[in-house]
Amino acid sequence: MPEFKTLRGMRDILHEDAKMMIYIEDQARKIARLYGYEEIITPVVESYELLAAKAGDEVRSRMFIFKDLGERDVALRPEFTASIARLVATTMRNDPKPFRLFCIGTVYRYDEPQRGRYREIWQSNYELIGPSGPEADAEIIMLTEGLMRKAGLKRFGLKIGHVGVLRGILSQERVGEREQSAIMQLMDKKEYDNALKLVESAGASNRCLDILRQLVECRGTDVKDVVNRIEEIVKTYEKSVIAAENLRETLKLVSESGCKISMTIDAGFARGLEYYTGMIFEVYVPGIDVALGGGGRYDNLVEVFGGEATPAVGVAHGIDRIALAMKTQKTVLRTENEKTVVVVPIKEELRAEALKISRMLRDADVPVEVEVMGRRMAKALEDADRRKANYAIIIGERELSEGAVVVRDLAKRQQSTVKVERIIDLVKS
Ligand code: HAM
Repeated sequence: MPEFKTLRGMRDILHEDAKMMIYIEDQARKIARLYGYEEIITPVVESYELLAAKAGDEVRSRMFIFKDLGERDVALRPEFTASIARLVATTMRNDPKPFRLFCIGTVYRYDEPQRGRYREIWQSNYELIGPSGPEADAEIIMLTEGLMRKAGLKRFGLKIGHVGVLRGILSQERVGEREQSAIMQLMDKKEYDNALKLVESAGASNRCLDILRQLVECRGTDVKDVVNRIEEIVKTYEKSVIAAENLRETLKLVSESGCKISMTIDAGFARGLEYYTGMIFEVYVPGIDVALGGGGRYDNLVEVFGGEATPAVGVAHGIDRIALAMKTQKTVLRTENEKTVVVVPIKEELRAEALKISRMLRDADVPVEVEVMGRRMAKALEDADRRKANYAIIIGERELSEGAVVVRDLAKRQQSTVKVERIIDLVKS
């Protein structure tokens, strides 16, 4: 027999790690509810054409692509946004906007596995579709801040930019859409020299190159100051000035909402996905050099899939990376203090009674595991200890004949005989 292992970049997530991932999922769902995002479920496999359309070279080159048995080119989704834009362009096209849509699940990218980088990735994804105003962008940022806080992360910050600043310059210089996207890809990888070479070969002016050089250097944490500097640098490019103003308004709204999040504005910041048209951002924590989340405004994607022009803004958070950050920061999970029980019949004839009592407890919302391995009492209790159960309910003939069982507090190592109808009160107290 061959030794079966998980594929490279794919992981079994067990025990405490699984608990942590589920905890983050719970927080992501809570945030979705608090902000009015409806959870929807979209397919893991979609047509390659749909997923690749605006994914950008980097993500596109890392997609898991295959032919299905009907010879169709399909792929595992590398993100949720394309599927959601498809839905909005088709099934939901006549529904009243805005849409606030939330998805949670796995996406797939053939990335080079390393710390915080996997091939099967858990994302929580939020899209706000319909509004074009900066309050929508502000909402996505605030929601992200809320999730990071709910996850218990202490030091996190945003890197923020605006694709419109860069695209405004390139469009005015008559650099084509395709070249613009290639330039953004290089800027995303911080290959600024190569990006500038491409701008030059696309026929842009020397003044444009000089301005781009200045923009790439323009960053800082004082929103007002950086945006003023950006506006000064791009003042001859009308669309870029409008974009900078939009960034200013968005960040002003975030700050005036009372949301205190540290931000670095970076004028040369670009993201790999090709559909962004406005504000873009990523979330970082110290000590981890990959982003915990990323998103931004994309006003043309629904149209690309045949829908009417529909502005939109969204974000996806990497649950695996949030878990990594929580471990690094030694975050304590704020779980409900739920008591758990194991039920152990002392002999075979009492199995039905064990099932009956366990059912009674579960009906009262107490999690119960029944001893099913037929082990001797000492072994069963040892195992219950290892599983960190709070109580063992031992069912013996003598006690049962008096309508009672033995309840053992596993932490205190104390036990007492308790009437069956009193068990729930005792366990929950
Ligand atoms: P993204 O930045 O490509 O954006 O991915 C979002 C997050 O997924 C990243 O910030 C990261 O936390 C996580 N992630 C991505 N690749 C990996 C990987 N190989 N291993 C672990 N985690 C990873 C999007 O997916 C956009 N759809 C976000 C969006 C929604 N924009 C608008 N709406």
